[in-house]
Amino acid sequence: MKIPNRIAGAYFSPTGTTRSVVSCLANELGRLFNIPVVLTDFTVPAGRIAPLQFEGDDLVILGTPVYAGRVPNVLLKYLAQLSGKKAAGIPIVLFGNRAYDDALIELRDILERGGVTPIAAGAFVGEHSFSRILAAGRPDKKDIEDVKRFAFEVFNGWASIQEPAPIQVPGTPYPYRGYFSPRNSQGNSFDFKKIVPFTDGNCTGCGTCARICPMGSIPMENPKTLAGICIKCCACVKLCPTGAKHFGHDGYQFHATELEEKYATRHPNEWFTLL
Ligand SMILES: Cc1cc2nc3c(=O)[nH]c(=O)nc-3n(C[C@H](O)[C@H](O)[C@H](O)COP(=O)(O)O)c2cc1C
Ligand code: SF4
Ligand code: SF4
Repeated sequence: MKIPNRIAGAYFSPTGTTRSVVSCLANELGRLFNIPVVLTDFTVPAGRIAPLQFEGDDLVILGTPVYAGRVPNVLLKYLAQLSGKKAAGIPIVLFGNRAYDDALIELRDILERGGVTPIAAGAFVGEHSFSRILAAGRPDKKDIEDVKRFAFEVFNGWASIQEPAPIQVPGTPYPYRGYFSPRNSQGNSFDFKKIVPFTDGNCTGCGTCARICPMGSIPMENPKTLAGICIKCCACVKLCPTGAKHFGHDGYQFHATELEEKYATRHPNEWFTLL
């Protein structure tokens, strides 16, 4: 295949792990191909006003976290507007050490429907949004080495790809499996959608959470409150400088602890190339 003109990376990343992997992969590929890199962050609503548009000679990298085993459903309408002009692309998902289920195949299909040919794909582990101990600190040094190895494999195989064909990845082809559903201590599923964070007395009103909420649901003038949908991304919980946001719901906490106990073993990263 012809050398791409630029690397065009785009990501949704409330707690920053997807951003780390997409940026590292993009920069490493830019270095190897010796071409410019552009990165688009569509985490907050202002980043999702214009649809993602790529040129035919871009190498596109599209990254999202795994939510309930799938691509976050709040992004589906936005990503359906993506247009790729037959560029080659790489879907990347970040998951919190449980499983990526059908998220990678779903993101691959989204790229393909938008006119981007997915020639490689990766599922990497990031610290779980709900926890500070599940996959703590990942992507770490070892993960970044994996990302660089993956970049080298893409670069190394590039010249030998004649006709780019969509990469095969694990997962159930469309119609995908249903969303993974958390259980409470009685083993029953509960209405996860209704859970919202609460704010304790340590809030200084700095407004960080209002700026970073991907749903734009925290009002700047009163950041202790919620005025919209919460997708439980945990950006406000993890990035509040005084640790003032929490999820106190029993079922939520049981689920987070269960994940920490059940998935304590380090899960490897997985990546797929055409060669
Ligand atoms: C609502 C929600 C659902 C999640 N579901 C899964 C899951 O099914 N499997 C998994 O391994 N991790 C899951 N995670 C963890 C995230 O995929 C993981 O922490 C990811 O690295 C977060 O990406 P970010 O740092 O870019 O926000 C979930 C996180 C959230 C907020
Ligand atoms: S980031 Fe924390 S301290 Fe700042 S406004 Fe939000 S809750 Fe308050
Ligand atoms: S309010 Fe909900 S959606 Fe907004 S940052 Fe906090 S956890 Fe994420």
